[in-house]
Amino acid sequence: MKFLYEGKAKKVYELDERTCVIYFKDTATAFDATKRAEVEGKGIINNAISSLLFALLEERGIRTHFIKKLSDREMLVWKAKRLDIEVVVRNITAGSLCKRLGLKEGERLKKPLVELFYKKDELHDPLICAEHILMMGLTDAKSLRAIRRTALKVNSILKNFFREHGLLLVDFKLEFGFLPDGTLAVIDEISPDTCRLWDAKTGEKLDKDRFRFDLGDLLEGYKKVLERLQGG
Ligand code: TMP
Ligand code: ASP
Repeated sequence: MKFLYEGKAKKVYELDERTCVIYFKDTATAFDATKRAEVEGKGIINNAISSLLFALLEERGIRTHFIKKLSDREMLVWKAKRLDIEVVVRNITAGSLCKRLGLKEGERLKKPLVELFYKKDELHDPLICAEHILMMGLTDAKSLRAIRRTALKVNSILKNFFREHGLLLVDFKLEFGFLPDGTLAVIDEISPDTCRLWDAKTGEKLDKDRFRFDLGDLLEGYKKVLERLQGG
């Protein structure tokens, strides 16, 4: 396989002209990778959770890059042309929303909030608005409408699914790309690295905030999420 790209938590290889293999690493990073650690087994859990969630979304009619889970740490995906946009959907106040606007954490929003960020490490992924996206030509107005619509649909599917398994989906980040046939698809990963998940009963944080703010063992939280989703 031809090595294509290494990110903070994954490596990407080209399998053929239409497909790639994503390899999930154990590296955990936060705050623009100024905080970093190796958490043995994280990649395995994130691949398992991402594969399960992508399969769920596909089943519910959302196009994603997911083809299948190949091994413990490898996922087979369609090659996609990635957009430099990060889409965050929020159901409960937390994280940068609270920091930016001085809000209290844990307030349920009346309706889901969609935020757009420019995926650019050197600029620390700044919050941007639709007009910035159109001005920079990151995508066109029609695709942006489809992205918002899809992000909200994904939120509704995931929120209900997590709730059925005793978890609150506080917020999450999605990335989008275009598949070889030109279809818009959800790409990257959906895992406790990219979602905030709280235990619905106790409020325990089971996601990467454990690592960001030293709240407890990271892997323990991620394992709880996987066990819940697998019905354990
Ligand atoms: P934020 O509150 O820090 O903006 O994060 C919102 C959601 O996006 C949260 O579930 C974590 C996720 N996220 C990523 O997946 N990657 C990132 O680089 C950041 C900053 C957040
Ligand atoms: N993933 C980002 C980083 O490693 C930020 C975060 O998730 O907090 O810097």
